[in-house]
Amino acid sequence: MPEARHEIIIRSSTDEDVPAMLAIYRHHISQGVGELGAFADEPLREEDLKARRKNMKKRQLPHLVADVGGEVAGYAYAVPFRKRPAYLFTVKHSIYIHADYMRAGIGRRLLPALIEACAKEGYCQMIGYVDAANEGSLKLHEACGFRRAGLLQAVAFKYGHWSDMVLVQRSLVEDSGQPPKPLSAG
Ligand SMILES: CC(C)(COP(=O)(O)OP(=O)(O)OC[C@H]1O[C@@H](n2cnc3c(N)ncnc32)[C@H](O)[C@@H]1OP(=O)(O)O)[C@@H](O)C(=O)NCCC(=O)NCCS
Repeated sequence: MPEARHEIIIRSSTDEDVPAMLAIYRHHISQGVGELGAFADEPLREEDLKARRKNMKKRQLPHLVADVGGEVAGYAYAVPFRKRPAYLFTVKHSIYIHADYMRAGIGRRLLPALIEACAKEGYCQMIGYVDAANEGSLKLHEACGFRRAGLLQAVAFKYGHWSDMVLVQRSLVEDSGQPPKPLSAG
């Protein structure tokens, strides 16, 4: 658990954070949480994560870490929801907290920071896919203003059984009927 004397600093990730982020990710894969099991057969490599970071940075998509006393206690990022141009203003996000720091309020800091960063860049909607059995993630998302937009039944086969996924959505704009303003990234 984070010691009281260390504050939680939310900042953009750097290449130096990649090994720590991978360790967090691999831990959760081994636990079969969330949608992570989907990638179990294709282990993510440092180069992949570095390339993804670079690519997202180019598009001004946030890739954040929670830094507690110099240790990466969690990370969160957004990627395009879909590639087709109509979906340009919608992002899909992920968040993973270090096992030693779970339930310590890091998600409650990191997810709002990601929401704010996406809104600042001009994105209009955020979408997440949460395993229906992942009560912690569902509660965190609800606490951060996401609503359940749908249930995708038996869409993920992992660890020998089918899992349902809950689609969660949060608007980043006051009036989603208005045409979008150009993104900061252009
Ligand atoms: C789900 C996850 C992101 C939550 O982050 P966190 O830092 O542990 O959550 P926080 O401590 O900020 O808790 C925020 C709220 O979420 C809920 N919550 C978090 N973990 C919970 C759990 N295990 N069970 C029930 N509720 C939980 C609570 O409502 C909590 O508020 P409270 O502590 O005031 O009751 C984190 O546990 C995690 O990374 N899990 C493994 C990977 C994963 O599932 N990622 C998400 C994939 S969609």
